[in-house]
Amino acid sequence: METLIAYSTTLGCTEQCASKLKEDLGEGVEMVRISRRRRYNFQDYNTIIIGGSIHEGMIQRSVFKFCENNLEVLLQKQVGLFICCMDLDANEQELIDRAFPVKLVKHALASGFFGGELNIKKMNLLQKIMTRKAARLKKEPDIDFQKILDFARKIQEL
Ligand SMILES: Cc1cc2nc3c(=O)[nH]c(=O)nc-3n(C[C@H](O)[C@H](O)[C@H](O)COP(=O)(O)O)c2cc1C
Repeated sequence: METLIAYSTTLGCTEQCASKLKEDLGEGVEMVRISRRRRYNFQDYNTIIIGGSIHEGMIQRSVFKFCENNLEVLLQKQVGLFICCMDLDANEQELIDRAFPVKLVKHALASGFFGGELNIKKMNLLQKIMTRKAARLKKEPDIDFQKILDFARKIQEL
């Protein structure tokens, strides 16, 4: 059986992390960007990994909706959850608890916080202004590739 990485990305960082995770996991892994119109063949997968990034304190609405709308089927799978963000004081468990439905957090067998990157080239003017003002956000890229590898190892052990 296969693994699905379902993710959302606003400026590309979460997609980069999902790609690295796919590479670390090896064979039998598919990646899909979450979208409202997409239909998912959940029966093809025994493991589903869901990832998104934090903007203005919230994970993408599409990620939360994906989890809510498919909760029953997700609760029958092996699930991993991950997040990208740049908060200097980020606490992994708090981030995960806030970003995903409670039942899914309790059910998940692996969760991870992979750091993040402010992809300035892809930002619109408002995003540039907002991130420049936000003192709590790290400005230097800080993706934790070791954490992605550790997360992959945990999934492989399931
Ligand atoms: C407009 C904007 C708001 C953000 N707000 C937050 C935030 O509230 N907390 C946080 O930790 N990171 C915040 N970030 C940082 C992103 O979570 C980080 O850059 C992440 O890597 C983006 O992933 P993505 O490129 O996949 O969207 C913000 C970034 C932008 C551009």
